Amino acid sequence: MSGLDVDLGRDFNDNLTKKMEEILSYLQSQGCPEQIHAGVILGSGLGEYTEALRITHTIPYSDIPSFPQSTVEGHSGALIFGNLEDRTIMAFSGRFHFYEGYEIDETVIPVQLIHAIGAKKLLISNAAGGINLSYNVGDLMVIDNIIRPHRRMMQQSSKWHWNMKSYSDIAFTSAIKLGLTVHRGNYLYVFGPNYETKAEIHAYRIMGGDAVGMSTAAELMEATRLGLPVVGISVITNAAAGITREALNHDEVKVAASARKEDFALLVSRLIIEDWV
Ligand code: HPA
Repeated sequence: MSGLDVDLGRDFNDNLTKKMEEILSYLQSQGCPEQIHAGVILGSGLGEYTEALRITHTIPYSDIPSFPQSTVEGHSGALIFGNLEDRTIMAFSGRFHFYEGYEIDETVIPVQLIHAIGAKKLLISNAAGGINLSYNVGDLMVIDNIIRPHRRMMQQSSKWHWNMKSYSDIAFTSAIKLGLTVHRGNYLYVFGPNYETKAEIHAYRIMGGDAVGMSTAAELMEATRLGLPVVGISVITNAAAGITREALNHDEVKVAASARKEDFALLVSRLIIEDWV
């Protein structure tokens, strides 16, 4: 254990193992594949990525024991198994947000499951507001790092730390090779569920935030805690509050995310197929 590591305590690990065993044995009973190459978590409006897969199993979250249920409109709430070329993938269409009333610990259950099943890597995606003034709606951003302005409120997760090995280099290089224009930037996490004020976005820009969103940060941290190689990708679905005169709404986010779905799918599929080390 390195100096940075925090001892999680035996109870936490025992409970986590029990929960994962319960879920894994349910998935096994449904005939789901047990050898998984990569996990993918799909953000708002990005669920259609699963069309790139040869789907073999679709398991609604509501059928999975010990699994939280997704409540946000635009998330179908299913665990999907499928193949991309000769790789087997598990994709989470619909995720759990702190603002829906889940504990931070519950929001990272998909990450823990992807790790427990033995996947080699994880791709996390989200819809985000562009803080950086050079970003446009529809742009893709590879997440280099995260900013949590309200981190004191996340202290129930004192067991987490940030030591992300940078796989963002790989993601960025892959995007370039595909001829895609992508940004690299800092994802600034807010609790939500309401959008930010103009003054907050101004402050977040000064802090170094490039995109703002209500997910992903805890998932990235949990993946790194578990030693699971991870890449985060944001689709910029709107200019963050105050940049334009438009009011923000969730429908706009879904439409914009879906408009860039082909390039997003190209990048995700490439990152699934190619080796990261
Ligand atoms: N703010 C926070 N979360 C978001 C946004 C935003 O502007 N767009 C999509 N998710």
